Amino acid sequence: MPANARSPLAQLKPLSETLLFASNFIRHPNMLGSIIPSSRFLVDQVLKPIDWHGARVIVEYGPGIGTFTAEILRRMRSDAQLVVIETNRDFVRFLRKTLPDPRLHVVLDSAAEVQSVLVRLGLPPPRYIISGIPLGSMPDPVRADIAAKSRAALEPGGAFLVYQFTARALPTLQRTFGDVRRSVERRNFPPAQLFLCTTGA
Ligand SMILES: C[S@@+](CC[C@H](N)C(=O)[O-])C[C@H]1O[C@@H](n2cnc3c(N)ncnc32)[C@H](O)[C@@H]1O
Repeated sequence: MPANARSPLAQLKPLSETLLFASNFIRHPNMLGSIIPSSRFLVDQVLKPIDWHGARVIVEYGPGIGTFTAEILRRMRSDAQLVVIETNRDFVRFLRKTLPDPRLHVVLDSAAEVQSVLVRLGLPPPRYIISGIPLGSMPDPVRADIAAKSRAALEPGGAFLVYQFTARALPTLQRTFGDVRRSVERRNFPPAQLFLCTTGA
């Protein structure tokens, strides 16, 4: 195993975190979309296109218990800023307690408010928005609104990195961004579809 690889056991989430996620899935199944957090395989695949040197501001929608958040913080520049936007109070409280990093802003709000959140924090447009929110199960106008606001919030040449458990959001993403590259990560439960949506420079 390479020196920097984490052992399979070290990658298992503590039971309390898995239970916090699962109990929230039981209460809000449509908001979460999955009963367990994303796998490390999915995290690696979603984050693969990111140019970490060039990314000064990154936004994440729907961090849950921080499976992507912790890894983004680990990889991003020491002077970059990460804004995570989450609608679930339990997750917001958990993230504020468990990830005390001065580069991290944990915001209780909807992804639809991304532009006002960035203005409130006084941050410039992000290079990347990473999204795990269940766009596919939202009503069409809500999904279209979030896609359009995400595109408008990104810096020129920025990208919207989306992972979903269905392809239902794809037509909206294609209409909004034009250029959408698709891939699949099967080593996740459920298997995930990835959509890399880019804006022209
Ligand atoms: C599938 S879970 C993903 C959790 C985590 N990112 C992961 O990959 O394990 C979806 C998350 O999106 C949040 N969410 C749903 N709708 C949202 C919205 N409109 N804005 C922000 N977060 C939202 C849910 O509360 C939940 O934490």
